[in-house]
Amino acid sequence: MSEPSILITGGAGYIGSHVLKQLAGRGERVVVLDNLSTGFREAVIHGQLVVGDTGDAGLVAELLDRHNVETVMHFAAHTIVPESVRDPLKYYANNTCSTRTLLEQCRRAGVRHFIFSSTAAVYGIPESGEADEETPTSPINPYGTSKLMSEWMLRDLAAASDMTYVALRYFNVAGSDPEGEVGQRTPNATLLIKVAAEAALGKRPRIAIFGTDYPTADGTGVRDYIHVSDLADAHLKALDYLRGGGASQVLNCGYGHGYSVREVLDTVERVHGAPLPIVEEARRAGDPPLLIARAERIRSVLGWEPRHDDLEFIVRTALEWEKKLTTE
Ligand code: UD1
Repeated sequence: MSEPSILITGGAGYIGSHVLKQLAGRGERVVVLDNLSTGFREAVIHGQLVVGDTGDAGLVAELLDRHNVETVMHFAAHTIVPESVRDPLKYYANNTCSTRTLLEQCRRAGVRHFIFSSTAAVYGIPESGEADEETPTSPINPYGTSKLMSEWMLRDLAAASDMTYVALRYFNVAGSDPEGEVGQRTPNATLLIKVAAEAALGKRPRIAIFGTDYPTADGTGVRDYIHVSDLADAHLKALDYLRGGGASQVLNCGYGHGYSVREVLDTVERVHGAPLPIVEEARRAGDPPLLIARAERIRSVLGWEPRHDDLEFIVRTALEWEKKLTTE
């Protein structure tokens, strides 16, 4: 039988490709499964890419066996909140049903560990604006619900088998690989820092602030922005933890403090050295005023220490990547 390896679903996407890069740096054996619906072939800089779907039971079964997969890292998902409101079944099909298929095959093949991309969207709108892992889950959109249902499947499967898992609840992931090898390629992006970088480089005529009347210090929404390389490192720490016999965990991934939309845009202007074409618009439906992680648990359980807790650095890497995309 071949050496044990890691299956990375969605490894051609934004976050998966950053994790893949770090796994490559450690010489881990990996195989990537991605249907390239939103991922990019060139983002798979390490290991073999298999183009296919996580909902394809036969393909998944064959990959798990052929590559002697010990750990699955499951990134493949749809992630656009407003789209999930318009087309909920698309989200339940891909994010929930395909995850169930994947888990069924993992159980059959005896996969030992599972690392799952969950989201702060499982909390909905927490009263204080801060959420720790004990904050009641109450998603307000199908995206958050589709991910929460997968968390529940994992919890129940782990209780009924030897598999252990870590579900990482991502807050606002931003920035790009500081070495510029991988980055966020998503067309028609909706994430604030990506949109701002595109506007700075003239790829968009303007950037809108969605809501200036929130009960926050400057009236704009506040989020906990985490650099994608720190998030990727959390996955490697989760891998080491599970391999070392750690018990299953659900962990927030954020820095534990927030920035407003205006603070983010001010930073983009400062780092870029020119004003942005900013317009003020009404609130976007479904946006909480404030969403910040209480993130002590991930530090104590995984020993994770962020290296890029610095908004200017996050913005600089986003801008540099955006410039690189322009010259491709
Ligand atoms: C993101 C994630 C969501 C996760 C959440 C955790 C995606 C698509 N969304 O959503 O899964 O649960 O983080 O906090 O991955 N804004 C503007 N103008 C813009 C874009 C955004 O003003 O052009 C504002 C928004 O109103 C919000 C903030 O910027 O206040 C961040 O928005 P965005 O980057 O879209 O992320 P979230 O909606 O927080």
